[in-house]
Amino acid sequence: MTQRVAILISGGGSNMLALLRSMTGAHPARPVLVAANDPAAGGLARAAQAGVPVAAVDHRTFRGDRAAFEAALLEHLDAARPDWLCLAGFMRILTPGFVARFAGRMLNIHPSLLPKYPGLHTHARALAAGDREAGCTVHEVTADLDAGPILGQARVPVLPGDTAATLAARVLPMEHRLYPAVLRRVCEGNRTPLFLD
Ligand code: GAR
Repeated sequence: MTQRVAILISGGGSNMLALLRSMTGAHPARPVLVAANDPAAGGLARAAQAGVPVAAVDHRTFRGDRAAFEAALLEHLDAARPDWLCLAGFMRILTPGFVARFAGRMLNIHPSLLPKYPGLHTHARALAAGDREAGCTVHEVTADLDAGPILGQARVPVLPGDTAATLAARVLPMEHRLYPAVLRRVCEGNRTPLFLD
């Protein structure tokens, strides 16, 4: 049976678009919802243009009440009945209760070679550490931030003169390759980590 994929975004949604574009033809999944915590997230219009239902739940209206924000988000998700939930540039921390609802079915892409640099400012931190390579990771989401089982990684070189911006621009196209490849694998029942370079 076709598997149903919901995607959470906060911004432009380039990874979300890469996922949407991959789910065609013989792919075992189809997108059922793109939701954002910011009504101004650029990715919402891109998803709508691609014909995917969209929803916005503005976290600011909940004034720090994470549980209430998540309850509102869950109304949309429950209606969409996703088998998989993909975080794609979703910049809100989720409570353990929310994560438990999607245990084993929630994926995230993070712009570092985890376990290095969980959290923010990953590229600046890789440069400050003098790393010779950088990259991105797709992992299962657990209650611990950016720490769930790794499902795939892609590496790029750090080049002389790199800034956080140039490094991010080198990593992003790898994100767009890695995330769809991992999503397809897990939909096919394969959780063996995939390594690209
Ligand atoms: C991507 O680089 C993604 O890895 C990162 O945000 C960017 C979103 O870009 N995610 C995180 O930092 C999560 N902690 P996009 O909206 O164009 O996909």
